Amino acid sequence: MSALPLDADAQKRAAAARAVDFVTPGMRLGLGTGSTAKHFVDLIGERVRAGLDIVAVPTSEATHSQALACGIRLTTLDETPELDLTVDGADEIAPDMSLIKGGGGALLREKIVAAASARMLVIADESKWVAKLGQFPLPIEVTPFGFTATLRAVDKAIAGIQPSGALQLRLAKDGHAFVTDGGHWIIDAQLGRIDDPAAMAHALSAIPGVMEHGLFVGMAGIAIIGGLAGVRIVERT
Ligand code: A5P
Repeated sequence: MSALPLDADAQKRAAAARAVDFVTPGMRLGLGTGSTAKHFVDLIGERVRAGLDIVAVPTSEATHSQALACGIRLTTLDETPELDLTVDGADEIAPDMSLIKGGGGALLREKIVAAASARMLVIADESKWVAKLGQFPLPIEVTPFGFTATLRAVDKAIAGIQPSGALQLRLAKDGHAFVTDGGHWIIDAQLGRIDDPAAMAHALSAIPGVMEHGLFVGMAGIAIIGGLAGVRIVERT
């Protein structure tokens, strides 16, 4: 009898389980945020309770709470400014390993932690693997101060590169603006496709009210993708 194809959550779990093999004793880890990273934190917690000695920096309050509950020893980038490896999920992964992140709103801390890490490994289910970024709305984290001026600047910056799309302030369940762990708001840019992620990243980073955006270009070195039949590993060339 053949094995049943893995559903999306099982694909995430399988990718996370394979990522655990990249963790060695003594490592300083960055712990990502989201439903896929949650599996990784859970599995690392199991290893820690079995004796694995690592220390970790979480990328959100949610991951901080989960890691503590799992018994993972935590540190900060102030105590430990250089990390060996960050393992995180993504909303989209392109073949050149550029990513869209921030669907869960943790993009700023995720990018700071990934940038402090020697390597970034991204884990995902097969639905995240795309030929070109942009179907998933691009999260852009902004300061509430001067929001409308920043929104206009974002629209203008995008239009300087490609046709702009609908820009929407992300709302929380209560109908008010969604607030990130850093106290900022998020604009979701529905672009359909991003032809030049590096140019887009550069243009958005130049806007004063933009704290960070969800394009991770040149950061992830390895992707572990859980698919219907198991996992595959893709390396950035
Ligand atoms: C959190 O802000 C995001 O960057 C997540 O890493 C991303 O949204 C992937 O989340 P899932 O693993 O839940 O799909």
